[in-house]
Amino acid sequence: MYTDFVVLAAGKGQRMLGNFPKVLEPLGGKPMVQHLIDTTQEIIHSRSIIVVGEQAEKVKKSLIIPRNTKWSNQKKQLGTGHAVKTAFSKVRPSAIVVVLYGDVPLVESKTLKSLINTASNNRLAILTFIKENPKGYGRILRNSRNQVEAIVEERDATIQERRIKEVNSGILAIKASKLKKLLPLIKNNNSAKEYYLTDLVDIAKRAGLRAKPLLLADPEEAQGANTLQELQELERTYQKRKAQKILELGVRMADINRIDIRGDLKVGRGAFIDVNSVFEGQVNLGANVMVGPNCYIRDSEIGKNSVIKANTVIEDSLIGNECRIGPFSRVRGGTELESFSELGNFVEANRSRIGKSSKAKHLTYLGDAHLGSKVNVGAGTITCNYDGKSKHKTKLSDGVFVGSNTSLVAPLTLGKDSYTGAGSVITKNVPENSLALGRARQAPPIKRKRKK
Ligand code: UD1
Ligand code: CA
Repeated sequence: MYTDFVVLAAGKGQRMLGNFPKVLEPLGGKPMVQHLIDTTQEIIHSRSIIVVGEQAEKVKKSLIIPRNTKWSNQKKQLGTGHAVKTAFSKVRPSAIVVVLYGDVPLVESKTLKSLINTASNNRLAILTFIKENPKGYGRILRNSRNQVEAIVEERDATIQERRIKEVNSGILAIKASKLKKLLPLIKNNNSAKEYYLTDLVDIAKRAGLRAKPLLLADPEEAQGANTLQELQELERTYQKRKAQKILELGVRMADINRIDIRGDLKVGRGAFIDVNSVFEGQVNLGANVMVGPNCYIRDSEIGKNSVIKANTVIEDSLIGNECRIGPFSRVRGGTELESFSELGNFVEANRSRIGKSSKAKHLTYLGDAHLGSKVNVGAGTITCNYDGKSKHKTKLSDGVFVGSNTSLVAPLTLGKDSYTGAGSVITKNVPENSLALGRARQAPPIKRKRKK
């Protein structure tokens, strides 16, 4: 059994008041319609046809799609029925067709599977839910025997029909062979002069095929986003679901409503996450890791038992076990901390390697630096790694002690167990076990003359 998804993503999204197509509005850090593309990949023997129109090239470029995906260009957006008509020539004749709306992104694969099952039994499967405030949605009309008769769009509905709270999610499934016969019968004789896909329900009934509704018990996954307000609601729903998943893995959070996951967060048991932290891309937190409030962590791995204190930023970096970072640290791309190392407040590390048990605890810049183990970097130390043209490396061997306020002018190597005097500007390599001084001597004291 094959499934062909037809993903509708051609509309502009007038009601979103943006200057790019609505389906690209970010949800959990990725375009709304990308969520659908990712979910469809959980369905075996499936492929997708994505209908684009408004800023088609931009939409195509913004999405990560599986290889067998097809595009369909809907030059004029004449309605959801018209969009499906446009794509139909690319549908495989023996497939089950599932229509997804690009602005209804949270539908789950298990729901899609049950719609596909219903359609495989020669039914027209539609997904419905109850909405307390159904404004903007198509209403489901049922007869006295509770069978679905039709879907009526809000602008064409009577006052009575508008009171109906069962609404259309937009998502439906039907065999391609049946859809082929019914699609040409969709006309645009309605108040919007659009080809409504929703007319399929009434058209199918007349042809002897009654729609079989799947009424969602939990309506959250079928919410659409036409306005910024609805997009906000979707974001919160999405974030809460993500947080719930990590809670189930044994992770403690100060407040499940104050964490944002924009990507994939993996967390070991016993970890604790304080409020307002943002996790982006692929982030792995080991067991018992503590993340303080207001941290931003992107595409990084933090080893077990490490503590990330408040207001710390970590990007594209690998942090070992038992490390201490922050508060107010910035760990930039390509940095690696070995176990038991520490970066403190107002310390920036960039493309650097910090060896085991090494420390830079205050007001320091480490750029292109390679620290061995048990290195101590004093407050105010700067690696001068950039000469205006190229970046150069600084090597601090095992056991080095850098005095406070040292400027290390790269390229530079400090030998094992060497040390620098506070306030030095070090421009030449320092051999093992020696003290390097590069600063003006203090002048002899000058007696103050006091006025009488
Ligand atoms: C639609 C349904 C409504 C349902 C609601 C659920 C119709 C006629 N109405 O209304 O019953 O309750 O969704 O969220 O289907 N699109 C195209 N080409 C077009 C028109 C739209 O690709 O010509 C795409 C849009 O980009 C969007 C999706 O189809 O992603 C839905 O269109 P939209 O205009 O948002 O429909 P609604 O008014 O929300
Ligand atoms: Ca919509």
